[in-house]
Amino acid sequence: MKNKSVFTGRSLCVIEDFSNEERRYLFEQARILKAAMEHHDEEVLSRYRIDDRDFGIYEVFLEDSTRTKESFRNAANFHHAKVNDLSSESSSFNKGESYADTFFTLSGYANTIFIVRSKLEGVCRWLEESCAAYAARNQLWRKPAFINAGDGRHEHPTQELLDEFTFLEDNDYSCEELHLALVGDLFHGRTVHSKADGLTIFDRVRIDLVAPPELAMPEHYVQKMVDNGYVVRTFDSIDAYLAQGDVAKKWYFTRPQLERMGERILKREAELRRSITFRRELLPLIGEGTKFYHPLPRHKQHPTIPTFLDATSLNGWERQSINGMYVRIVLLAMIAGKIGEEFVPSEKPKAAVWEEYIHEVDLTDRPLKEKVVSEGVQPIHNGLVIDHILRGEEPGAIRDHMRLISSVLGLDESKGGEWVSTGGKDRERFKGIIFRPGEVGLSRKHLKRLAAVAPGCTLNLIKDGKVANKFRLSLPPRIYNFEDLACTNEACISHPDQDEGVPALFFRCHDNHFVCAYCETRHTFKQIWKSRNK
Ligand code: CP
Repeated sequence: MKNKSVFTGRSLCVIEDFSNEERRYLFEQARILKAAMEHHDEEVLSRYRIDDRDFGIYEVFLEDSTRTKESFRNAANFHHAKVNDLSSESSSFNKGESYADTFFTLSGYANTIFIVRSKLEGVCRWLEESCAAYAARNQLWRKPAFINAGDGRHEHPTQELLDEFTFLEDNDYSCEELHLALVGDLFHGRTVHSKADGLTIFDRVRIDLVAPPELAMPEHYVQKMVDNGYVVRTFDSIDAYLAQGDVAKKWYFTRPQLERMGERILKREAELRRSITFRRELLPLIGEGTKFYHPLPRHKQHPTIPTFLDATSLNGWERQSINGMYVRIVLLAMIAGKIGEEFVPSEKPKAAVWEEYIHEVDLTDRPLKEKVVSEGVQPIHNGLVIDHILRGEEPGAIRDHMRLISSVLGLDESKGGEWVSTGGKDRERFKGIIFRPGEVGLSRKHLKRLAAVAPGCTLNLIKDGKVANKFRLSLPPRIYNFEDLACTNEACISHPDQDEGVPALFFRCHDNHFVCAYCETRHTFKQIWKSRNK
């Protein structure tokens, strides 16, 4: 197998793992392949075939599937590769084996691409990382690649690929604009969540969210859409949507998953279903050229797209499902290094920028000042003072947070105390102060912890009554390598209750929230500490 393309050995854990121009390349190849399949053009098809019986493609589906599993299996068979399927019901998962150990084992048997469906969110990201280390320490010939075939409520990136390809087919392959209604269970549907980043292949995007409040799109996905420049509108039913004049020509339905929502919702089941189910009498209200799509399956008793629409021009969902195999054949060919050699990205991947978040204040030209702490706190002679904690927040919140800081820094057993003050230049705003007299040594690791738990604070190290060292701390770009960090999402592979031994890792995003590296759940800097979440 050739090994020169930028796609070789890549994983697809979330849709953004392939850039817009990489996805456009994939769609162009899918278009060529689909035409060749329809015309039995073996010469063209052979350019896509991996054609290597030793190239291992492994399906591991720990949740039910028909389309994703079978279209991947058929795609893998197209490639004349070695195709396997783990029988999860009789595997050692049932003896408590971890995901990492399971996939280490399968990687060792000359398998290169894994297609994984699981209820655990972020599982492919973790396996990509842990199996790369396994491959390196065991000198495996190829580093395994992972394709997320749906992880909990998180993402379904290959469904997103085939959805985008189908929209493009119906857009004359133009990426200029897309006006799409998302209808149904937008709360649970991972296929609609992937659209928050996926539809950025279109230059102008208008999204109409059609769902009752109980099934509404989670706010952080709506925010992501807005941040990505989409124009977003919301409606609580199909009737409300059709009652206004500006209706999309493309509708994307999803299956309601009311069974996940408890008794209270089930009492209103009929009403909720009606609000997101298309009805015969609505047909005159939709415009010519309208297409409906659905990732499928649709429920045989409660289909949101009724079966009488199958034989109408609204039917885009059958071709959408068929496209799944073409798109997946191309994706496997790209990851295997069979195609893509000629693709040259116009943008280089951004290099990581080193960012300093611990600033030591240069005190050399400053006269050593007596440390004065106001309002009843005795100045300390030796020790530390952490100042400006949560400036501007309410006293109760500041006190709570100071308890967390003390615990995170291991200061609970020392003398000293916590104080809420309105000191400094701004007498209207509260701030917290922690002081600990005596010898309190703080390492660089402590400073990193302090920056992560109390950004914006100032740390003063006091010696002989004077400020000997002063640090200003801001939020680190990444937080990891601390045992007391934890993602709050119970479905995340890194959540402590999953017992998968995955260390928590967070990246700071543009609005200073911390995003879990695996499941992408957003947290404030206060929420990522285990002691806070107990
Ligand atoms: N669209 C989709 O993921 O279908 P399956 O659950 O049948 O794979």
